[in-house]
Amino acid sequence: MEMTMTKRIYFDNAATTPLDPAVIETMTKVMQENFGNPSSIHADGRKSRTLIESARKIVANRLKCSVSEIFFTSCGTESNNTALKCAVRDLGVQRIISSPLEHHCILHTLDRLEKEGVQIDYCKIQPTGEVDYTDLEALLAADSKKTLVSLMHANNEVGTMNNIAKISTICAANSALFHTDTVQTIGFRNIDLTEIKVHFLTGSAHKFYGPKGIGFLYINGENQIKPFIDGGSQERNMRAGTENIYGICGLAKAMDLACEHMDERVAKIKELNIHARKQLSAAFEGLTFNGPATVEGGLEKVLNVNFPPSDKSDMLMLHIDIAGICASGGSACTSGSEVGSHVIAALSKAADKPVEGKPVRLSFSHKNTIEEIDYLVEKLKTVIG
Ligand SMILES: Cc1ncc(COP(=O)(O)O)c(C=O)c1O
Repeated sequence: MEMTMTKRIYFDNAATTPLDPAVIETMTKVMQENFGNPSSIHADGRKSRTLIESARKIVANRLKCSVSEIFFTSCGTESNNTALKCAVRDLGVQRIISSPLEHHCILHTLDRLEKEGVQIDYCKIQPTGEVDYTDLEALLAADSKKTLVSLMHANNEVGTMNNIAKISTICAANSALFHTDTVQTIGFRNIDLTEIKVHFLTGSAHKFYGPKGIGFLYINGENQIKPFIDGGSQERNMRAGTENIYGICGLAKAMDLACEHMDERVAKIKELNIHARKQLSAAFEGLTFNGPATVEGGLEKVLNVNFPPSDKSDMLMLHIDIAGICASGGSACTSGSEVGSHVIAALSKAADKPVEGKPVRLSFSHKNTIEEIDYLVEKLKTVIG
């Protein structure tokens, strides 16, 4: 069916999501009615303070943890940096075990910590990108240094998921601390912290239809952490600075909505992923998928498609953009030089087979439609068919 596209099609929801209209409404109301400094003791200040604490309660209730364990930050990057650096500075961690598939905000922090004397070990991964649990156990058993395991819940480039319940059990059996980057799964998976023991966990509002510039860090109450930003007494003395009240209220509203509508949204996204896999496989010979082989193996919103190498596939991202479609390449450009994706490189190594071709990450939301996917496939056919 030929569609006339008057608007751009957005298949880049793992990069960021549009604001939910109900979140805009909540934030606008707070902006209009609550400018009091939450640290002021007068009525206007107390009103703002109440809004922040209500937001904290929403987040804590959704994760089934204590309100005193939730700290608002500026983003997922800050939350992840804080978790790793505080574990080393305040909890006596001398060694961190992670995986080569983590987001750069983890990998670059690990590089820095390694230069400062922390032992960093990377555990093996399976060809789909999922952690090799046997190797994780072996690494933990091989060294008695105080260790933090930092492993993401879902990978942002290929959608591979790790079993965080299993990792938590392995960590507990080896007296290791556990940090998990749940930036891609908050609002897309139920996370019950009464069932899974985690020491640090992170979230970022703009990945679940909330605003940019606001995230949170869960710190298990057992951990005695020192302030990560010095100054006033905000965020229980841990992170000084007048709170981003609009962002905090927007994050809580978005998280509440995402968790409330999770089942129907995920079901819709799964349907889109299955349809895209089917249509793309039928349209392009030799096309493969990086990461999980089926939708069941990963996070439904991410589909990393590998187009066979050809002259035409080189300009693929540009053509997709010109056709009005937002997607993401599997590689990043740094200082003008093409640097291949570290995730695809790690998958190639794990499979002992180089991934050849052009990786394109499509990432869906419940707002996308089957017609949009069909339009994408048609456009791709005209570019590389
Ligand atoms: C898995 C993962 N961790 C961390 C981040 C960083 O989050 P933020 O953009 O809020 O700094 C991202 C963002 O792409 C992500 O996908």
